[in-house]
Amino acid sequence: MKIIRQVDEMQACALTLRAEGKRIAFVPTMGYLHEGHLSLVRAAHKHGEVVILSIFVNPTQFGIGEDFAGYPRDLSRDSALAAEAGVDLLFAPEAPDMYPCGYATTVHVEGITETLCGASRPGHFDGVTTVVSKLFGIVQPHAALFGMKDFQQLAVVRRMTADLNLPVEIIGMPIVREADGLALSSRNKYLTPHLRQQALCLQDAIRIATDAALQGEKDAAAIIAMVQQRIEQEGDARIDYIQICNPITLQEIPRIDADAVLLLAVFFNSTRLIDNHPILTPFN
Ligand code: PAJ
Repeated sequence: MKIIRQVDEMQACALTLRAEGKRIAFVPTMGYLHEGHLSLVRAAHKHGEVVILSIFVNPTQFGIGEDFAGYPRDLSRDSALAAEAGVDLLFAPEAPDMYPCGYATTVHVEGITETLCGASRPGHFDGVTTVVSKLFGIVQPHAALFGMKDFQQLAVVRRMTADLNLPVEIIGMPIVREADGLALSSRNKYLTPHLRQQALCLQDAIRIATDAALQGEKDAAAIIAMVQQRIEQEGDARIDYIQICNPITLQEIPRIDADAVLLLAVFFNSTRLIDNHPILTPFN
């Protein structure tokens, strides 16, 4: 596995690969790799002959008081995991090379960035869409893979890619969970055993919601109330949002329909976890 740290070198290498007729599949991450990231890498092999993984803890998508400084970083551990998963090229740039002196451009997607995580993390999606556009320009992928774990992020990236006519196929991949159901996240590292136990209420809540919907409950507010009640049983849980939305527009819907998705964001002390599930699909 080749490791590239320089933006110019990465772009030159990608352009050469394209000139040779190679299809590039790309997995952007912020590192501290886990099985969720590695599932994207494995799937990427089906979408390109060359798999490029980026690791960049992007400062512009963290708000003031968020965990940018403390975000877990371990490039040697990540390189070993990436190589093992069959990554061909690891791109790990430094912030001053991505945002050099004089840098002045932001990519902003309207509407769907204003709800859910966008409402509680102002500016977050500007940081995401800006860095993803830059990474697309540098890595020149034919296809890029994103996890449904960050459901809104995937919807926003799809919107941006369509709106800007970027020639990149966006592929959404299912959420990878621990054996007990907790969605894998680099931030799970922050949870004490006691908080981790409480965080299992997210899956319980999803199960309660999907069971109710599958049994015919059509009223979104009634289902949200059940979810809220379950989460509030945990002493350290503080709800950021619970919403049932259309999966494309992310607008809240009052009555359950076939496509509706339940989206949750809950703080466990200072650690904010997100999860989601289609409301009419059984949760195992
Ligand atoms: P990061 O949180 O490192 O996630 C990188 C990719 O892994 C995202 O597409 C995310 O949805 C996916 N992922 C994370 N946990 C997952 C899980 N449990 N199952 C499946 N996929 C999972 O998301 C980002 O980084 C950044 O915002 C980024 C897109 C790289 C831009 O900086």
